[in-house]
Amino acid sequence: MAAGGGAPEPRVLVCLGALLAAWVAVGLEAVVIGEVHENVTLHCGNILGPRGLVTWYRNDSEPVFLLSSNSSLPPAEPRFSLVDANSLHIKSLSLGDEGNYTCQEILNVTQWFQVWLQVANPPPSAPQCWAQMASGSFMLQLTCRWDGGYPDPDFVWMEEPGGVIVGKSKLGVEMLSESQLSDGKKFKCVTSHIVGPESGASCVVQIRGPSLLSEPMKTCFVGGNVTLTCQVSGAYPPAKILWLRNLSQPEVVIQPSSRHLITQDGQNATLTIHNCSQDLDEGYYVCRAESPVGVREVEIWLSVKEPLNIGGIVGTIVSLLLLGLAIISGLLLYYSPVFCWKVGNTFRGQNMDDVMVLVDSEEEEEEEEDAAVEEEEEAHEREELPKEIPKQDHIHRVTALVNGNIEQMGNGFQDLQDDSSEEQSDIVQEDRPV
Ligand SMILES: *[C@@H]1O[C@H](CO)[C@@H](O)[C@H](O)[C@H]1NC(C)=O
Ligand SMILES: *[C@@H]1O[C@H](CO)[C@@H](O)[C@H](O)[C@H]1NC(C)=O
Ligand SMILES: *[C@@H]1O[C@H](CO)[C@@H](O)[C@H](O)[C@H]1NC(C)=O
Ligand SMILES: *[C@@H]1O[C@H](CO)[C@@H](O)[C@H](O)[C@H]1NC(C)=O
Ligand SMILES: *[C@@H]1O[C@H](CO)[C@@H](O)[C@H](O)[C@H]1NC(C)=O
Ligand SMILES: *[C@@H]1O[C@H](CO)[C@@H](O)[C@H](O)[C@H]1NC(C)=O
Ligand SMILES: *[C@@H]1O[C@H](CO)[C@@H](O)[C@H](O)[C@H]1NC(C)=O
Ligand SMILES: *[C@@H]1O[C@H](CO)[C@@H](O)[C@H](O)[C@H]1NC(C)=O
Repeated sequence: MAAGGGAPEPRVLVCLGALLAAWVAVGLEAVVIGEVHENVTLHCGNILGPRGLVTWYRNDSEPVFLLSSNSSLPPAEPRFSLVDANSLHIKSLSLGDEGNYTCQEILNVTQWFQVWLQVANPPPSAPQCWAQMASGSFMLQLTCRWDGGYPDPDFVWMEEPGGVIVGKSKLGVEMLSESQLSDGKKFKCVTSHIVGPESGASCVVQIRGPSLLSEPMKTCFVGGNVTLTCQVSGAYPPAKILWLRNLSQPEVVIQPSSRHLITQDGQNATLTIHNCSQDLDEGYYVCRAESPVGVREVEIWLSVKEPLNIGGIVGTIVSLLLLGLAIISGLLLYYSPVFCWKVGNTFRGQNMDDVMVLVDSEEEEEEEEDAAVEEEEEAHEREELPKEIPKQDHIHRVTALVNGNIEQMGNGFQDLQDDSSEEQSDIVQEDRPV
């Protein structure tokens, strides 16, 4: 791998091994790239043969002594050491080690060599990518971030699958026009960094057009308020939601006002109309979801009605009910007065028993204990009478017969079937031996 730059002087960078340290000198200049936490060795020129006295300096605002081949001068830090009698070895690089280093070599003449050390670190976490609507234009912006690394990584956005390249940059941002977009299309961002990983890291976004959900019709009373709701789902990036009136063509966007309150919570939007009036407010309303991936609309019909007199309605309903009741009673009495009297008596007698059961509180407490037993019994009963008892209500009834008085069997299975299940479960509790 080779890297250069727009530098005027020809400068070649050779990465040795896994790019941990790179080094080449053309003339007196060299650039070395080291990695954070790793070791690096800076060479003092590329002289072959005998070496003179070598001294290393750090060039910041002014040169700072680091190390000398004169062993009576100790190194500035224990991290620094001399290898091969001239090269500076730095242990466990940190970002602060980045800078220019100079070595001075005294042979029969004094020579200077400069090395530019760059310290790189790959971003510590995976890249992240997302899509959003570009502000101010109807375009889609793809953004890829891979933070925390040094120097900056490179980004390539491509279509997925297919690998058609959308753009390459140091920023990771690409703008796409509507013609490049379609519902469900995927884009992949592939990142690369000078210190790896070799294969690079990637992330994928899938864009989706909006779907809309709303009620087709709403009613408002004159002078009242009404709220129309509209829900966008599935849109990525999130869609812009607009309320419109199609009083004319093109449709008119409803602006917030004292009578029109517009709210939006995520992808749920509402339009509240205050003080409804038939002339102004009745008609079609349009909820529109806009995204570069797609535009969807739903229409909501609002009808505005005169408020009704509630008292009048209730009065009418009650009168009608009473009238109906009177007619039915009249008919029954007319056709079979004796029958009615008998039925009434029978019911009264049965209900007396039921009331006594309900009042008994001890029975209620035992209900839970019985629950388990009841389940077992149910299973048992189901085996015995599977065809006649399709529903659970009926199973309770049979339980009552088995556990209760045998004489009640005489009343007949069919009689019991017509009774309500609530009454039946009470009978079960009463008749069962505990
Ligand atoms: C860095 O150099 C030291 C000796 O100076 C050595 O012990 C250590 O293993 C080296 N670390 C790496 C990552 O090469
Ligand atoms: C670095 O320091 C040396 C020694 O003082 C000096 O000759 C050289 O010009 C300096 N280089 C830079 C880039 O400052
Ligand atoms: C090494 O450094 C010592 C102490 O500064 C000095 O006395 C000596 O002359 C130096 N040796 C050489 C070869 O420069
Ligand atoms: C090192 O020196 C070069 C010129 O040789 C300069 O462009 C670069 O900015 C210097 N680096 C630092 C970290 O000062
Ligand atoms: C430096 O000295 C060496 C012998 O030590 C000699 O061979 C060489 O020619 C000399 N170089 C110069 C530039 O004087
Ligand atoms: C309609 O909304 C307004 C403003 O929020 C409120 O003052 C008024 O009581 C509401 N009217 C009805 C009938 O709910
Ligand atoms: C408004 O939309 C409805 C339903 O699509 C349509 O029947 C009506 O003609 C439209 N009104 C105008 C003014 O376009
Ligand atoms: C409601 O609208 C009517 C006209 O449609 C207006 O006369 C009345 O003052 C309005 N009421 C409120 C509370 O705004």
